[in-house]
Amino acid sequence: MAEPHESQTEPAADNTVPAGDVAAGPSLEELLKQSNKPAKFDPDAPSILTVDNLEMYFPVRSTGVIRRKIGDVKAVDGISLSIPRGGSVGLVGESGCGKSTAGRAITRLYKPTGGSVKFGDRDLVQLSNRELKPLRRDVQMIFQDPYSSLNPRHSVGAIIGAPLRIHNMVPKNQTLKRVQELLEVVGLNPEHYNRYPNEFSGGQRQRIGIARSLALQPKLIVADEPVSALDVSIQAQVINLLQDLQKEFDIAFLFIAHDLAVVRHFCPQIAVMYLGKIVEIADRETLYSRPNHPYTQALLSAAPDVKQAAIGGRRERIRLTGEVPSPINPPSGCRFRTRCPLAREICAKVEPPLMQIGPHHKVACHFAGELGNQPHDPVTARMLGVDNSGNPDPGATPTQIEDSPEFSDVWFDLKERRTVKP
Ligand SMILES: Nc1ncnc2c1ncn2[C@@H]1O[C@H](COP(=O)(O)OP(=O)(O)OP(=O)(O)O)[C@@H](O)[C@H]1O
Ligand code: SF4
Ligand SMILES: [Mg+2]
Repeated sequence: MAEPHESQTEPAADNTVPAGDVAAGPSLEELLKQSNKPAKFDPDAPSILTVDNLEMYFPVRSTGVIRRKIGDVKAVDGISLSIPRGGSVGLVGESGCGKSTAGRAITRLYKPTGGSVKFGDRDLVQLSNRELKPLRRDVQMIFQDPYSSLNPRHSVGAIIGAPLRIHNMVPKNQTLKRVQELLEVVGLNPEHYNRYPNEFSGGQRQRIGIARSLALQPKLIVADEPVSALDVSIQAQVINLLQDLQKEFDIAFLFIAHDLAVVRHFCPQIAVMYLGKIVEIADRETLYSRPNHPYTQALLSAAPDVKQAAIGGRRERIRLTGEVPSPINPPSGCRFRTRCPLAREICAKVEPPLMQIGPHHKVACHFAGELGNQPHDPVTARMLGVDNSGNPDPGATPTQIEDSPEFSDVWFDLKERRTVKP
């Protein structure tokens, strides 16, 4: 059966998304500009969650009777980031780069195969399911697909009430009242608690998913592409709702998206992911006006809403050709090299480290630089102890480069080619 379209299935609710609000005219960026102001990056905000060198490998097994392990899908391969209390970090990248897997590993829907996820003084990676139960209240997830993430056989009341019951959040006789309050908070009619998901449009279903994630009063929500399945005008409404909720309840967000316009509005800090790794991370202003990684530059040039302001004023489109390679057998050296217009010999031989190049800016590229201003020689060679072709240089003294989840007050100045402490 075909999925109902956003505009076809609006129930007669008083305070729901108005019917007929399909994409027409203004872009998401324009719609968002007219509404809430994006939050500012606060470098001094304390961290609520710290992800350090997180790995999520899935085993690949041979076919046949004895299913031997023959490799790994390295879906997430050593990512580090820190989410400030009540703040939000965007995680962006093409399909298949590992965003959802990272979100599921952070919320412990998967058991990570490496690294740590510190929430307060506890490492979620090390906890047993029993130890995790109380912490699950604090860390919730909104799922990518509002159609498949709600059980069609359960009423809205049962869906939103389930976490309340499991965690004994309210006395049994008050569950309905709490469900109705939550429906109201997300802009749905509280009287619709006994309806079923198929009676709602995509935008309304996503609001139901949001209400479910709010039920336990979380401190952090991992929102996995919460609007990508929705029409543009509905996307703007749901993003505004999330921003309002963030302010009202002081919730921190890891906001996953492949659309740079969406995260630009929601997140003061953004990490760009490629094939299981973070390749660039920066505060919003820096990332959009001075991206230094060829992949970020290509993503920005492809985003119609943001390309004017981004990539140093250059407006031509940088085309990304080919597919994201398989995470079972990623390219040697830099994983982006098979699609990178700047790739040289060193890129196949040596993996570029994620190095800090400004107060709140890290990038992983041997030829890091603003578009049209990339250096001729690799900026990383000396610190890695190799020559410009990536061969070991016996005379060099490699520098230890730490990939910490936080930003340091010392960084590598690309022009001076040395570490600076302003
Ligand atoms: N349970 C699993 N077992 C094996 N491989 C998996 C599993 N889940 C994801 N993968 C693989 O890991 C890689 C990353 O997948 P993931 O769903 O995290 O990407 P994504 O960035 O969220 O993509 P999209 O934008 O399409 O949602 C893909 O190659 C995918 O096939
Ligand atoms: S390290 Fe080389 S291949 Fe990788 S992004 Fe930089 S220039 Fe391109
Ligand atoms: Mg995904």
